[in-house]
Amino acid sequence: MFFYLAIIILNICRLSASKELLDLGWGFDNRTIFWPGQTPLYFTKEETVYLKGFSYSFKEFCVAEHGGTHFDAPYHFHQSGWKVGDVPLSRLFAKGAFLNMEEEHLKMGRDTRLKVKDLENWETRNGKFSENSVLLVKFGRSKFWQNRTLYLDLEGETMHFPGLSKEAAQWIANSKKIIGVGVDTPSIDPGNSTDYIAHRILAENSLYNLENVKLLTDLPETGFDLVVAPMKIEEGTGAAVRIFAIVNN
Ligand SMILES: *[C@@H]1O[C@H](CO)[C@@H](O)[C@H](O)[C@H]1NC(C)=O
Ligand SMILES: *[C@@H]1O[C@H](CO)[C@@H](O)[C@H](O)[C@H]1NC(C)=O
Ligand SMILES: *[C@@H]1O[C@H](CO)[C@@H](O)[C@H](O)[C@H]1NC(C)=O
Ligand SMILES: [Zn+2]
Repeated sequence: MFFYLAIIILNICRLSASKELLDLGWGFDNRTIFWPGQTPLYFTKEETVYLKGFSYSFKEFCVAEHGGTHFDAPYHFHQSGWKVGDVPLSRLFAKGAFLNMEEEHLKMGRDTRLKVKDLENWETRNGKFSENSVLLVKFGRSKFWQNRTLYLDLEGETMHFPGLSKEAAQWIANSKKIIGVGVDTPSIDPGNSTDYIAHRILAENSLYNLENVKLLTDLPETGFDLVVAPMKIEEGTGAAVRIFAIVNN
């Protein structure tokens, strides 16, 4: 009996020593960043009921689908695409791929675009993208999360933040390996985009997006797993999402 217990404890220790769990989402509170004009999360009802010897509390809330760390279902930009509740479970347990564009962003400035060359260079370093991959692109924006003005880089009505070029979006869709793309900015399209072409291309190909992903530290470029868990709003075009990375050390 003791022997088996010791083995179990040993295995738990080994698991926790060799795997690192990361939360890639921002919390929802009154500082959470939403797209201009969208409703931030607020409680429409907050109540605590006191009874004899105990109390119970409950709240009700209202929130835009696309704000904070969230999931874009293909339906968001494609009328016959999956809604949140339609996305197959197998696509929510994915292989992680990480691409650091922070230096490029510093060099190229506010309108940096992810290029096909950046994706090809990733494959030169790591081999082909695995089946069922979600590509996380870090532009280095997460460090501005606490300051909405810096994070959105608003200039009048126009926002300025980096994003995917049309060609990179098409390359990703053509790969047939990548099933979702995550960015540490409010949108996979650049801030000044008016045609949302990256959204349209990925949605038409049944890929989902993760936006406002919290990427404060670097992940390995490959060899980690992701759990993507949007709130299951059956008819949703998007939803708040929990994203967990499981990194093997
Ligand atoms: C935001 O929430 C915090 C914690 O609940 C509170 O102390 C603060 O006053 C709130 N700020 C605003 C602007 O509502
Ligand atoms: C946010 O950044 C802007 C631009 O640097 C600055 O003017 C402003 O004071 C900052 N706001 C806060 C709340 O730190
Ligand atoms: C967005 O910015 C890029 C780079 O400065 C520019 O080439 C492009 O024309 C701009 N797009 C729009 C719609 O203004
Ligand atoms: Zn969105």
